Amino acid sequence: MFRLVICVSGGGTNLQHIIDRIGDGTVRNVRVVRVISNNAGAYALERAKKAEIEAVCVSPKAYETRERFNEALLSAVREPEPDLIVLAGFLVAIPPEMIRAFPNRIINIHPSLIPSFCGRGFYGLRVHEKALERGVRVTGATVHFVDEGMDSGPILLQKAVEVREHDTPELLQRRVMEEAEWILLSRAIALIAEGRVRIENGRALIADEEAGRADGEPAPAPGDGRTAGRRQ
Ligand code: GAR
Repeated sequence: MFRLVICVSGGGTNLQHIIDRIGDGTVRNVRVVRVISNNAGAYALERAKKAEIEAVCVSPKAYETRERFNEALLSAVREPEPDLIVLAGFLVAIPPEMIRAFPNRIINIHPSLIPSFCGRGFYGLRVHEKALERGVRVTGATVHFVDEGMDSGPILLQKAVEVREHDTPELLQRRVMEEAEWILLSRAIALIAEGRVRIENGRALIADEEAGRADGEPAPAPGDGRTAGRRQ
């Protein structure tokens, strides 16, 4: 079984979709072994408990310094021995020690087409507010690997979503979730769990992926990139 730890901060609709896709067999041989939230009131923790998944809160408020919190977060993530860590609306800066401990084994869902509307200050509803302010016609979502920068790791999957004339940030957020985020995140997990993703020269490559490749073009040959999401 491929083991996931999922980190959340809020409502947990992305978490719910992962649980449901595992439940209905769309994502196979994958188990959520722990859900971690920095926020004790996160409804995502309730969703985990309802699905009989261990739910843990690691709140910065419970620690005297950021360093202590980072250590506690790292041990909470490490302890159930995950193959992959999924940031599903986790609004905490990931400590560098955690990134070094899990190279190419942390993915994040971001509610825009990176590199637009990402980086410091771009999270949750704000991303959609900024997209509407700028007047873009198309936005979307991105699943990427987490490196030491902000939203700067290799891009795994993206999906575009239309912006409509009378959109509010809330309406746009909902459409991006329904049409992109919920679909992309489960798909990304399945691809990694199946061993079909590797990182080469800072890019994520998907084996046997028809989409995005010209007809007849061969799948990328195995290179020096390591398979993502594998304990090394
Ligand atoms: C999602 O829209 C996710 O993309 C976003 O937070 C929301 C969480 O919703 N994440 C970020 O903005 C990360 N930079 P959820 O708790 O209902 O899944």
